[in-house]
Amino acid sequence: MVAKLYYKNKLILKLIKPFENKRLFTSLMLNILTLKDYNYWPKNLIALDAFCQTGLQWTRLFANEANYLEMWDINEQAIKYAKKEFPNANINCGDSINAIINNKLHRSDFNFVLIDLPVPFRYSNTEFEHFVFFDKIFNNVAANFILILNVVTNVNVMLNVHPKPKEYVDAWVNARKLFYNSDDGYIINPQKMKSSYEEKLLAIGITPKLILYNARNQNLGIVTIVGSKSI
Ligand SMILES: C[S@@+](CC[C@H](N)C(=O)[O-])C[C@H]1O[C@@H](n2cnc3c(N)ncnc32)[C@H](O)[C@@H]1O
Repeated sequence: MVAKLYYKNKLILKLIKPFENKRLFTSLMLNILTLKDYNYWPKNLIALDAFCQTGLQWTRLFANEANYLEMWDINEQAIKYAKKEFPNANINCGDSINAIINNKLHRSDFNFVLIDLPVPFRYSNTEFEHFVFFDKIFNNVAANFILILNVVTNVNVMLNVHPKPKEYVDAWVNARKLFYNSDDGYIINPQKMKSSYEEKLLAIGITPKLILYNARNQNLGIVTIVGSKSI
């Protein structure tokens, strides 16, 4: 029995080796399956992928389940491919952060929002990660919603892969201290991260039903928030 499994797995590993692509690793799927097990995955999925790129890494994992799918990316080339891949989606080339902040999305009742920012990420030369628009996301969601966003637990690990000048790092670390209300902006461990998101949600009248952290790879994590707001 074990031998059969062993040789089956050896064969699978050998077959996928030439096509193995870490960018396609589906940590998102793991989260979606977890949400389904908790019975939080919406039956009528109204999805926003605010940083979709071509959609071939992440959007494809839930696009077929969506009754409405809105996609945004600022990169024209990426949008061209996204339109080819997702002909039924409402696809927009533009600044989704501006759209989120200024209520320019096409709906305000999304029950699934995906924020997969580039990392490291500086916006308008002064803002970092999702900090400037985090609160505004909730003006665009349904009473019960799921939000998934990418997060950085350890700046040093990230900088090993994507080095940045000192001025950038200082400003980024300071922004992290303020956003996460932490003495250490370099390392925000998942526990601190979760409690910080919980406090933020409660402060704006949102009840967090579930907050999960998962590693996505060596330098990135995913935070999943299931919440409800009174409307
Ligand atoms: C990490 S990639 C997203 C990958 C995507 N989730 C996938 O599955 O293929 C981040 C994307 O955000 C886009 N982006 C950066 N700033 C943006 C903005 N202000 N508004 C919209 N898209 C933006 C970039 O062009 C890039 O394609």
